[in-house]
Amino acid sequence: EENGGFVGVADTDYAEEEERRKSAEAFQIVHQQLGRTYLPLINGEYVNTPEVIDSLNPSNFSQVVGKVGLISVEQAEQAMKAAKAAFPAWRKTPAKQRADILRKAGDLMSQRRAELSAWIVLEVGKPVKEADAEVSEAIDFCLYYADEMERLDKGVNYDVSGETNRYIYQPRGIAVVISPWNFPLAIACGMTVAALVAGNCTLLKPAETSSVITAKLTEILVEAGIPQGVYQYVPGKGSQVGAYLVNHPDTHVIAFTGSQEVGCRIYAEAATLKPGQKHMKRVIAEMGGKNAIIVDESADLDQAVVGVVQSAFGYSGQKCSACSRVIVLQSIYDTFVERLVEATKSLNIGETELPSTQVGPVIDANARDRIREYIEKGKTEALVALELPAPQQGYFIGPVIFSEVPPNAIIAQQEIFGPVLAVIKVKDFQEALAVANGTNYALTGGLYSRTPSHIQQAQQEFEVGNLYINRTITGAIVARQPFGGFNLSGVGSKAGGPDYLLQFLEPRTITENI
Ligand code: NAD
Ligand code: ALA
Repeated sequence: EENGGFVGVADTDYAEEEERRKSAEAFQIVHQQLGRTYLPLINGEYVNTPEVIDSLNPSNFSQVVGKVGLISVEQAEQAMKAAKAAFPAWRKTPAKQRADILRKAGDLMSQRRAELSAWIVLEVGKPVKEADAEVSEAIDFCLYYADEMERLDKGVNYDVSGETNRYIYQPRGIAVVISPWNFPLAIACGMTVAALVAGNCTLLKPAETSSVITAKLTEILVEAGIPQGVYQYVPGKGSQVGAYLVNHPDTHVIAFTGSQEVGCRIYAEAATLKPGQKHMKRVIAEMGGKNAIIVDESADLDQAVVGVVQSAFGYSGQKCSACSRVIVLQSIYDTFVERLVEATKSLNIGETELPSTQVGPVIDANARDRIREYIEKGKTEALVALELPAPQQGYFIGPVIFSEVPPNAIIAQQEIFGPVLAVIKVKDFQEALAVANGTNYALTGGLYSRTPSHIQQAQQEFEVGNLYINRTITGAIVARQPFGGFNLSGVGSKAGGPDYLLQFLEPRTITENI
């Protein structure tokens, strides 16, 4: 079968009253549990830490979602030792048994779907429908990578007369997973379960701002039967504990998703051989984007406007896949901008617990201040076509659209990671492609067009990892749109795709003369 026969789980249908009731009930329960303390899991034990931080609700930052224990460097070292000790048994555990633990984890997530969505909504301010889709993605990663590992475990036979040739995969060793806050469950889960099912002992260091939801993931993996020391939950400061684990001579694989700055640094640090280190580290670094959608003169503008609004302002523009530039042919430019502005004005901004909400807050005060600075900078570079007001409570920023943006303006080149969209006018399709390709990134891109030659040219020349034609550019689905970029958007193969697990495995060839 073309997609390997994998069918992902369905999102919740909030049009059903029963589903809305379940969601409301889950929120009620989660609200009662706010403020609890979550501890790291080292060698099968939840351990106390020298430092505990508050994880706040970005919609209402007086609300403490949970208290999170951050590990020290000494505790990171203990976790590393425990991982090394657990490796010999884990590497020998049959792939089917490892895969079944992932399937069990996927089941547990399905059972806890409404609750997990509620935690995502409250900890990172993601509107509930998108939080629910994120839970689907996390479950899909578990189920898909379980199948993938069983497929790869079969290896390949290249036997000839008088000689057997077995091509097999073995785990690499210790994997360090460093995850971002913007897909706090799906991305952390995807990288972690991929490393685990491939037979690596795995340490998960989540982003500081989303460590409660990863503590829930930890509960689930433990309940699913992951052995002591094989998986460890090591929340801590990126610059300290994260850097320590990256530089550790016993680390074999680093799976990172986050900013370009940190990704480049990890890549460089991992390349330096440390005393006692007998291998080169494999780095997977999924980084940022400055993603563009091109709208040409033949586009269905109704479709294009809706697609751009959703791609740019869904989760307040805080997806690596989000559209932050829209490149419009001059013949339709004025009409398009007018309609884009009208459509953006009708977005529901605010209360992320309601299924009708489309735009929530940004993650924290730093992000809010950084985005505001970009907006001020933008006002010196381009025209403001729209600046919407935002709720006062919480870290809200109303969507902003800049028009007549020069392609090389700072707001058209740097990843802002907020609800800020730059509209760029071009004279023809050739120029549109040149502008689209004119950044350091190559993550997602989109084209709205009904001109076959443009569609064909975009397929060949639009330099992005995920190109979407006549649809939104966010919301990739496991084993349907394997996801990831190149250039300064990242190094590594696509998450949710057939090459992903190979990065966590070491191939070997065994020849026997018979
Ligand atoms: P970030 O780079 O600030 O942090 C990511 C992780 O790295 C966190 O866990 C952090 O603690 C850790 N870290 C920080 N400094 C470190 C260091 N010196 N050594 C080791 N670890 C360190 O990113 P973020 O703000 O959490 O996430 C947003 C960014 O992630 C955006 O740039 C976005 O585009 C990108 N992103 C990319 C993808 C993708 O698939 N390409 C997906 C989601 C997010
Ligand atoms: N995989 C996520 C998306 O496609 C980032 O939006």
